[in-house]
This record gives sequence, structure tokens and C-alpha cells, in this order.
Amino acid sequence: MSSHTDEIVTLDADGFDEACRQTHPLWHQGLDLAAYKRRLEEAFRRMPGEMRYAGIRSDDGALAASARLLDADLRVGSASVPTCGIAAVFVAKERRGQAWGARLIRSILADAAGRGRRLALLFSDIGIGYYERLGFRPLHAQDWTASTDALPDSGALVTREAAPDDDSLRKLYNDYADRQGLCPHRTAAWWSYFRWWRAARPDLILVDGDREVGYATVRTDEDHLHVFEWVAPTTEPGRVWATLRNEALQKGKRALSGWLQPGRMEKWMDAADRSGAIPMLASTGGPTDELPEPAVFEELDHF
Ligand SMILES: CC(C)(COP(=O)(O)OP(=O)(O)OC[C@H]1O[C@@H](n2cnc3c(N)ncnc32)[C@H](O)[C@@H]1OP(=O)(O)O)[C@@H](O)C(=O)NCCC(=O)NCCS
Repeated sequence: MSSHTDEIVTLDADGFDEACRQTHPLWHQGLDLAAYKRRLEEAFRRMPGEMRYAGIRSDDGALAASARLLDADLRVGSASVPTCGIAAVFVAKERRGQAWGARLIRSILADAAGRGRRLALLFSDIGIGYYERLGFRPLHAQDWTASTDALPDSGALVTREAAPDDDSLRKLYNDYADRQGLCPHRTAAWWSYFRWWRAARPDLILVDGDREVGYATVRTDEDHLHVFEWVAPTTEPGRVWATLRNEALQKGKRALSGWLQPGRMEKWMDAADRSGAIPMLASTGGPTDELPEPAVFEELDHF
């Protein structure tokens, strides 16, 4: 294995095309190549300056390995820590098993450290072993499902759709999240980007009498209501769940699902370890053992 650290390059238009052609067969999600490229172009347009496609090339000039990088700040206790997000790690098929993946990750960590980014965050779809060997450690990753029959049914709140430019919800989230151990700090661009990227419906404002007490973000899937997240700091959680139960039933769905946050487990939930999208964190310069728990990554943080 090479001990030398490669220099990652930001892909130009040709490199972007090459990366799209390589990754499309795996990550197309039903889109043809042109539509897949347009979706990624739109993603970069929505996150100018913060997101870029980077890679390393082999001696013959071909793109050997690539990843999408997204700079973000993590809140660690009360401190803001500049972090490099890493997504879509990909090694060209014919070059797998020759350490290109490891070289790419090491180069990204070195590049991030050089830019003052102290942590690196990714969501692994290939278990934890591969990235553990490269210095990452896994964070809490569980899903929950429940039937509407099992959810609380009393004390439901009223909901109404939030305006897309309502910045008070983002502030509510950041206040809530800042009281957790470790979580991303969401900028306005981040807030709107992820709602678009994950096809969430407009946020639902939760209303208790004449008071707005929080919000919930959901998506209606084929057979269930998917709950991305909710924040309602002064409301008893059972009342929020009763509200989400009503939302599901109004949409004709008899089941709900979501990512399970530490501290949000309820006896009526079926919880299971998640096999994909496992958040993993590394220091770009040393061990990460000192990071506080719990780590709270909502599904809308998954890039
Ligand atoms: C995962 C991937 C990036 C690894 O790149 P690579 O250059 O082939 O890997 P390396 O040569 O650095 O490392 C090889 C080691 O990783 C292991 N490995 C490779 N793919 C793996 C996977 N999907 N899951 C777990 N381990 C894997 C190999 O078993 C090998 O282990 P060994 O050293 O004990 O023999 C590459 O297989 C790939 O592009 N896969 C498709 C895209 C993908 O799934 N990306 C990850 C998204 S989170």
C-alpha cells in the first residue's frame, strides 16, 4: 500500500462527467444518466462554495477514485468545529482492491486538515469495518417503525404548513441541537438543500391552542409516513406522536418509520440497527475518543 498522500483535485466539467458515468449504475435511483447528472448539478448549485466533487487520478490520467465533499460545522458541546463531510466514495470498478479507496480517504483527510477542518463525517452504506480501519468511528444508527395502532392517540396538536422561507424553524432546530452532545449546525442553505435532496414535504408547524410549539418534517411513502425529524422542546412527546399518527391516517397510511434518536425510544417502537447510512466520524489529525455523546444526526443531515 502506498504511504504517500495523493493530492485530491476538484473535478472540472469533464471530471464531473466521468464521475457521473462511473457512479450512475450504482446510485441512479431510477434516473437515466442525463437526469442523474442534472440532479447532481442542481445539488452543487444549491450549495455553492460548500460542496465540490473531488478525486484522485491514476498515472494514465483516468479518474481512479472520487467523492463529494461538503464543508459543514459540527457543534461539539458549545463549540463549533469545522468539518469536512464526505459522500459518494467511489473507486472505478477496474481499480478496486488496489487501495485507491484508502488513498482517496487519506488524501481527503489531509486536505481537510490543511484547510482547518478538524473532523470528517460520512454516512457509510458498507458497514463500519472499512472506514474504521481508516480512523473513523461509528455513531448511533438505528431505525424505528410502528403501526398507527400502537402510537399514542390523545393530545394531538394542530398542524399547518410552514412557509419555505420561515427561518424560525431552523433556529428552533439549532437551539434544540445545541443542547445535545454532537450535531451539525445548520445554515439556511443547508436547511433548504436537504429538504430538496430528501424530497421532504413542506415542514409542518405544530400548533397548541394559539401557540406554535415546534415543527415536524415528513414524507409520504408508498405504504407509510416517513418521519424525518421533529422538534417541540416544551411539548410532551406523546402529543407529537399522536399528531404524527393523525398525519399518517389522513394520508391513508397505517405505519410510520424514521431514524431513531438517542433518548427518543418509545415502548411502542420497533427499533433495529440501521444497515446503511451509518454516521461515522474521524479527526483529521488524531484520535476522536474525546467526542461527547449523544451524537444526533437526523435523516435530513444525510448527504
Ligand atoms: C468501497 C470502495 C470505495 C473500496 O475501495 P477499494 O479501493 O476497492 O478499497 P481498498 O483497496 O482501499 O481496500 C480494500 C479492502 O476493503 C474491503 N472492502 C472493499 N469493499 C468493501 C465493502 N463494500 N464493504 C466492506 N469492505 C470492503 C476489501 O475487502 C479489502 O479488504 P482487505 O484489505 O482486508 O482485503 C469500493 O469498493 C467502491 O467504490 N465500491 C462501490 C461504491 C461504494 O459502495 N462506496 C461506499 C459508499 S459508503
